[in-house]
Amino acid sequence: MSRRILVTSALPYANGAIHLGHLVEYIQTDIWVRFQKMRGHECWYACADDTHGTPIMLRAEKEGITPEQLIARVWHEHKRDFDGFLIGFDHYGSTNSEETRAHAHAIYARLKAAGLIEVRAIEQFYDPVKQMFLPDRFIKGECPKCHAKDQYGDACEVCGAAYQPTELIEPYSAVSGAKPVRKTSDHYFFRLSDPQLAGFLRDWTRPPRVQEEAANKLREWLDAGLTDWDISRDAPYFGFEIPDAPGKYFYVWLDAPIGYLGSFQALATREGLDFDAYWDAERAAAEGTEVYHFIGKDILYFHALFWPAMLHYAGLRTPTGVFCHGFLTVNGQKMSKSRGTFITAESYLRHLNPEWLRYYFAAKLTPTLEDIDLNLEDFVARVNSDLVGKFVNIASRAAGFITKRFDGRLGSLPAHDTPLPALQAAAEAIAAHYEAREYGKALREIMALADLANQYVDQHKPWEMAKQPDREAELHQVCTVAINTFRLLTLYLKPVLPRLATQVEAFLNIPPLTWADAGQLLTEHLIQPYQHLMTRVDPKAVEAMLADNRESLVPPPAPVRHGEHQQHGVVTKAAEPSALPPAQPAEGVISIDDFAKIDLRVARIVAAEHVAGADKLLRLTLDLGGERRTVFAGIKSTYAPESLVGRLTVMVANLAPRKMKFGLSEGMVLAASDERGGPFLLAPDSGAEPGMRVK
Ligand code: 2FM
Ligand code: ZN
Repeated sequence: MSRRILVTSALPYANGAIHLGHLVEYIQTDIWVRFQKMRGHECWYACADDTHGTPIMLRAEKEGITPEQLIARVWHEHKRDFDGFLIGFDHYGSTNSEETRAHAHAIYARLKAAGLIEVRAIEQFYDPVKQMFLPDRFIKGECPKCHAKDQYGDACEVCGAAYQPTELIEPYSAVSGAKPVRKTSDHYFFRLSDPQLAGFLRDWTRPPRVQEEAANKLREWLDAGLTDWDISRDAPYFGFEIPDAPGKYFYVWLDAPIGYLGSFQALATREGLDFDAYWDAERAAAEGTEVYHFIGKDILYFHALFWPAMLHYAGLRTPTGVFCHGFLTVNGQKMSKSRGTFITAESYLRHLNPEWLRYYFAAKLTPTLEDIDLNLEDFVARVNSDLVGKFVNIASRAAGFITKRFDGRLGSLPAHDTPLPALQAAAEAIAAHYEAREYGKALREIMALADLANQYVDQHKPWEMAKQPDREAELHQVCTVAINTFRLLTLYLKPVLPRLATQVEAFLNIPPLTWADAGQLLTEHLIQPYQHLMTRVDPKAVEAMLADNRESLVPPPAPVRHGEHQQHGVVTKAAEPSALPPAQPAEGVISIDDFAKIDLRVARIVAAEHVAGADKLLRLTLDLGGERRTVFAGIKSTYAPESLVGRLTVMVANLAPRKMKFGLSEGMVLAASDERGGPFLLAPDSGAEPGMRVK
């Protein structure tokens, strides 16, 4: 029976570039959507940019443009990146749309009518110069616990303490540098502490609506008790004004998920879909429509507590499932700008094929909240061995004979002893894996079938048959089998490799493959001449991509939330980040933020050599705790190379690489000198280990 499904991915914040951390989610979702469509279901994929809030307002101001101009530009950048990775949204909108505004107003009105909105005066820090209330992340000062300077208003990055902004010592506004004053204003709260909500949510947050692990986390939060949620912000704010409250705006996290409705509304209008069949509580229950949200584990709180509560008490349907995934690490570590592993979508696409990453992520994805690792060596090896060595290889082994010896026409199939029945019989098992988001399992199964197909070709050796004129008919059959295995493998891989599948469909001269096509085989059919389908990953291209990301190091303000705040654990939108540098310091003096831009690391010198033709330089190989860098250092006058090997020193790890006559220098070591002598290398105290940050 055909299902009616709406699928969403989290709306990326319109304050920064899409990077590989984001793409885990969009690729995971896109594979699922493409799979559902191949199964013949009505499945819609809606998403949008999340565009409101203080960071966007201030960033636009800093750039001298309007927030609308900023979000329009970012929308195009995001869309370009998603298209590049073949993310097939049916609609990609913006939360700054009339559709989202209308739904925000309607939901708010219903929550209010249900007695769930309350107005309370609260006292907050206010920037008297900028004339605005300051979110926690825009207030800085001395940590009340460890007395580190210049810490954010919610937590200390030095000692890890969490506190209220009002506890900071000598607080200052990160926007203007002014001393903030306390000021009271009315805020609108969604009464989440109402006992009826806790009852509803306890019941709602169970598997299979959420994964087991997520359910446990949610239970902990519910046991701790929910507090009322502040859903308003005072002007100036970039967002939707609250209908009956001039000067008050909906907090960005209120309208962000409503953006799912706004985006689907626009899609429904375009496609003539019945919006209410998907979103009205009664209609959706009667018609059995399904809604799934794919999200990162850092925003579970919003999607499995606030959001279903908002929907339910506004008379709307709640999601059928909230699918949470883990974060991305690269080479086993957090993505890092200094290592070049904070890889933007755009830079990846400049060097590498998007389907390689889709395949690699899919191979690693499970339905759990576990983090996944992009190990770049493994990436190269796996793509080359699975996709090029096993999969594409099958077509290239058989297609030439079909074209040259049989005028491009497939022949008949032998009745026995082919891998085709096994390949066809796997269709439902593979489908079940995709449905359960067990992509790793699906791909393992598909690659086992590719092995069978290759073994078949190995055993029958068409290249030998081709030399024996009396084996013409056999050759035709063997190549027809091989092409049929290739067609079935393409079908099974199509959710992951949509572009390659389209190329194969053109090569095989067939309409777009759907899952039901696994039941058929191709015989007596004209195909096109084979053209090369996929190249091997060149490790040099991976290196070049990393170098690109190292070079393009732009100092923070980091774009925040979703994807990037993954690195800081659970952070809410309340913790809006610093989008502006602090007040200008006196000339010649740098701020702590300026200093923090320099990524100083402890490094071990693992090799030191003379450089032919250089008077002053030594070539050093430095180990940064796993990562190796080559640095040319002008220290030949003070050090014999062999005396340096094994020593620890300090290097600037985020210096743009510099091309020198003798090669690429990927950083700088620190040394002291003046007229009294030197250069003398800096050495850390015992206990320091390669890779440790110096700050
Ligand atoms: O975490 C984030 O980046 C948010 N922009 C996600 C919003 S998802 C939904 F609620 F809109
Ligand atoms: Zn501290």
